Amino acid sequence: MHNDVEEILYSAEDIAARIKELGQELTAEYQDKNPIVVGILKGSVLFMSDLVREMDVKLQLDFMDVSSYGSGVESSGHVKIIKDLDADVADRHVIIIEDIVDTGNTLAKIYDLFQHRNAASVKVVALLNKPERRVANVQVDYTGFEIPDKFVIGYGMDFDEDYRQLPYIGILKPSVYAHLLH
Ligand code: IMP
Repeated sequence: MHNDVEEILYSAEDIAARIKELGQELTAEYQDKNPIVVGILKGSVLFMSDLVREMDVKLQLDFMDVSSYGSGVESSGHVKIIKDLDADVADRHVIIIEDIVDTGNTLAKIYDLFQHRNAASVKVVALLNKPERRVANVQVDYTGFEIPDKFVIGYGMDFDEDYRQLPYIGILKPSVYAHLLH
């Protein structure tokens, strides 16, 4: 598995240090707001589990599963809800947790849905942000790291469902997916 990684972008220690900072910011922002923290499956799960342990506020967890990618590396622009939330978000403060915001299509759809369901507020925390690739007009309120337009894996992020458990964030060797680009 490690042989398929061209370069490690952020080590486990880098990630932990940044999450501590984000946790402090969110703790200050969400005191007494009792937010619902919504993880977008599956990529956000590792990030979410570490982040909420750095948030010293009362909160609840919920999950949504949407599909936008299939098994390739390019976004299709279509987003389908596969699993919806259990909770009602009306009048609640919602924090969306994303692994990575790329074109922004996924996030735009989810954001609009929560607005439509009358959430009191909706904010977005993304571990990674690829601003160069943005197509949809979405705001990322808290970003772990901004990265260039490279396909990354690890710490929750996959290529064709592999590599999610890597403890670091790495760039996948293009040779691993080159056959899909032709
Ligand atoms: P978007 O709709 O184009 O913003 O894509 C968002 C989703 O695509 C993310 O939540 C990831 O699941 C996936 N994704 C985008 N870029 C990458 C990447 O570099 N590595 C792994 N997954 C990615």
